[in-house]
Amino acid sequence: MRVPEQDKDAATQPGTERRIILYGHPTLRRRAQPVADVDGEVRAFVDSLFTTMRAAPGIGLAAPQVDRRVRLFVVDPTVADSATRPLALINPEILTYAGINTYEEGCLSIPGIYADVSRPERILVRYVDVEGGVREEEFDGLMARVIQHENDHLDGKLFIDCLTRMRRTLLTKRLREIESRGE
Ligand code: NI
Repeated sequence: MRVPEQDKDAATQPGTERRIILYGHPTLRRRAQPVADVDGEVRAFVDSLFTTMRAAPGIGLAAPQVDRRVRLFVVDPTVADSATRPLALINPEILTYAGINTYEEGCLSIPGIYADVSRPERILVRYVDVEGGVREEEFDGLMARVIQHENDHLDGKLFIDCLTRMRRTLLTKRLREIESRGE
């Protein structure tokens, strides 16, 4: 996920950068598969997702966005909200939802398009951490927002799917332009 006011000079870290695929690429519409084992390869992949996300810059990035159909994503909304923290979520499952709020979202795979999206405000998530431990944790605010946006990517869902038909129709031309930039 991307936020519009984000600082382009946000800190980057060394590591492998991966190419982010754009709207129109079929992988963005496929369901991702569970991670079987959290091994060194998975941890190296998680590191590369953090590097790619920060270089973009973005505050969340899901594996399918770098053309890997596995159920994991990274988030780091600290540039937008210092009360948050960087986190990698593997095989996440949102167990409960509460409340609702609206926030302007963007997506690294749909550059230049931002729209208000209403989503639940608080979530309870079960996920596997990078050490392979199963955790259950409650999130609210921007963490809950970014986690829901990234979790949708694992099911082939994009934030523009949450918009009304009219809003999407207005974006059709710009979405086609992005599609023509992909391969
Ligand atoms: Ni996204």
